[in-house]
This record gives sequence, structure tokens and C-alpha cells, in this order.
Amino acid sequence: EKGGYDYFMLKEIAEQPKAVADTLLGRIDPSGSLTLDEVRISPSELREVDKVVIVACGTAFHAGLIAKYAIEHWTRIPCEVELASEFRYRDPILDSRSLVIAISQSGETMDTLMALRHAREQGSKVLAICNTNGSTIPRESDAVLYTHAGPEVAVASTKCFLTQLVACYLVALYLGQVRGTKWGDEIQAVIKDLSRISEEVERVLETMEPVRALARTLASKDTVLFLGRHVGYPVALEGALKLKELAYMHAEGFAAGELKHGPIALIEEDVPVVVVVPSSRGRSVLHDKIVSNIQEIRARGARTIVIAEEGDEAVVPYADHLIRIPATPTLLQPLVATVPLQVFACELATARGNEVDQPRNLAKSVTVE
Ligand code: M6R
Repeated sequence: EKGGYDYFMLKEIAEQPKAVADTLLGRIDPSGSLTLDEVRISPSELREVDKVVIVACGTAFHAGLIAKYAIEHWTRIPCEVELASEFRYRDPILDSRSLVIAISQSGETMDTLMALRHAREQGSKVLAICNTNGSTIPRESDAVLYTHAGPEVAVASTKCFLTQLVACYLVALYLGQVRGTKWGDEIQAVIKDLSRISEEVERVLETMEPVRALARTLASKDTVLFLGRHVGYPVALEGALKLKELAYMHAEGFAAGELKHGPIALIEEDVPVVVVVPSSRGRSVLHDKIVSNIQEIRARGARTIVIAEEGDEAVVPYADHLIRIPATPTLLQPLVATVPLQVFACELATARGNEVDQPRNLAKSVTVE
């Protein structure tokens, strides 16, 4: 049932192009607009929404962090993202105009379930983004957008993360479409890009051999750091989480702009630092800033592992290892930038002799608070 792969995780990484395509299937109509029938919250109710709050745990929380950039940019609705386990304990401000989005692969995560119950008690509408048909979280929500990743067996979430991102983009674009924001043209263009993105994910998968080889050389390291900016920041957090849970290594993700506020003190000779470089078009200011960050850490001895778009030549002189990803619109980049980090963590875990599908101390779904 592993389909010829050594681990479910490898199979699930390889299934990502299909999972992404399946999650888009039937949701973009031929005219290029979105139909999300399962979102049983009416367009008029969605026009009333004045705040979006996303609650989730672990990898799903990272998808939520990325969704915030997309939702705020395309809809101009303020969006908060909160760890489900923290949410209800701080008396959050919610009412009937708040849209709460609960993201969960399993649909059974107790922290997320308790957060959504709390939100409904305050009169908010809850939309679930979930991979498991008929599970508790969608059953208790007002509406659900299912991710169509198929069953995910490995404890470390991979294909479900990518499909959660797709679902978040669909919700953000749909909200933008329903509310008619000034980004109409951009929204149309992104919908087109999104419908082609599974081919880009496929292209990334075809180029992963050097990433595996690199990971094997790092098996005896104690620490790996991850840096990113904008949507690359949650990607860095996700890369670090994958490495912690699979390779049992100290791994931390930082916002690159925070480096000089503390984390740069961690840089010492030969410490591997993975840097997710933002797209060089669109937000070129951020791109240039991260290139200087790479220079700064390299000057202090870091071994730089740079994930950058094809055609981005500015990073070449400062990259000890360069991992190329296809150019995508800025907000969609996490769909391609995360894949090498999954492969990297899986290979490091294997090189360290760890059990890839069943990491120590972890369960696939966490049904206690
Ligand atoms: O089933 P859920 O999406 O609600 O699970 C949330 C987290 O427990 C989960 O993403 C966890 O962080 C994964 N093991 C990460 O790979």
C-alpha cells in the first residue's frame, strides 16, 4: 500500500501534484470564477464579515499564517491567526460578523474543536477546512471546504499542508470575488496561476535528488536554522517543524527581518541556514533585503542553503547550496517552496536512522487537549 515507496511520507510527498489538482477540481469554472458550493455561508453574509480569525495547530497553523497574507491582501478584511490551544483561554473578541476558519487535516484535533465551539458560542460563523469527510470539526461547523488530498498516513503532514494552502487561497479569492475588491484583475490572474500550479509542484519533485544528497551530508549536525520573509516566514516555520518531528534536530524558523534583533547571535561556523527567498518580481524590496541577510550570515560562517526562484541570479554568489523553484506569484510561492523542505527533513530522518512515518512521541491526530 506504500505504492513502491519505502515510507508513506515519500508516497504522500509524491502525491502532492494530484492532491493539489484534486482540491482545485470543480471549484474554478471555465469563465475563471470560483464556485464554492460547500461554503454554505451566503454571499450576503460574507459581505458582512468584518474580521477573519483562523485557528489551527501545527502544520495547519502554518497554512493559516500564509492564508493571512492572502486574505488581507485580496479582501482587505483584517485577519488574525491563532494557535487553537491558546485561543479560547484569552477571551477573544468575536461576534456574528467574525468569520472563524478552523483548519484541520484530521477534523478531530481537540484544541481546534474546542476553539471552534468557543467561536460558535460567541455567535461567529465557522468555516472548516478539513481533509476527513464527516469528521467532528466539519460536522460542528457552519460550512466546510474539504481538501481532497486523500488519506494521509504519515504522522508528518505534507500533501495535506499543500491542499490546506490551496483551500485557503480559494477562500481568500472567493471572499475577494464576492466582496468585489479593487484587486479584481489580480484575482483573475491568480486564479489562472493556481489552476496551473500542480504542474509546478511536479517540476519541483523532479529536481529533488541534490536536496537528498545535501541532507545526507548534514546528518551529524545538531542545529538547522530556517529564515524567510513575508509568506516565506511561515514556510521557514514549517521547514523547522518538519525537521524537529522527523529528524529530532534542533530546528528553528525565523523571520529574516528579526535576525539582527537576536537570532544572528546563533550563527557560528558551518551552521546550516536554509533561506527561503521571496519572489524577485512584485516585492523586490523584500527580495533585496533577504539577499543582504544571506550575505550577513555567510560572513559570520553560516553554511547557506538558498531556496530561490529560477532566474534569480542575485543570490548565486552567496549560496553554498542553491535549490531552484519555479517562479510563481508571490503569494503562491509556499506551494513550491515547501516541497524541498519536506524532502530535506524526510531524508535527514532516514540518514539518522529514524522512523519516518511514526516519529517518536507523536500521534497522527491529537484528540486530547
Ligand atoms: O489534524 P490536524 O491538521 O488538526 O493536526 C494538526 C497538527 O497536529 C499537525 O499538523 C501536526 O503538527 C503534524 N504532525 C505536522 O506534521
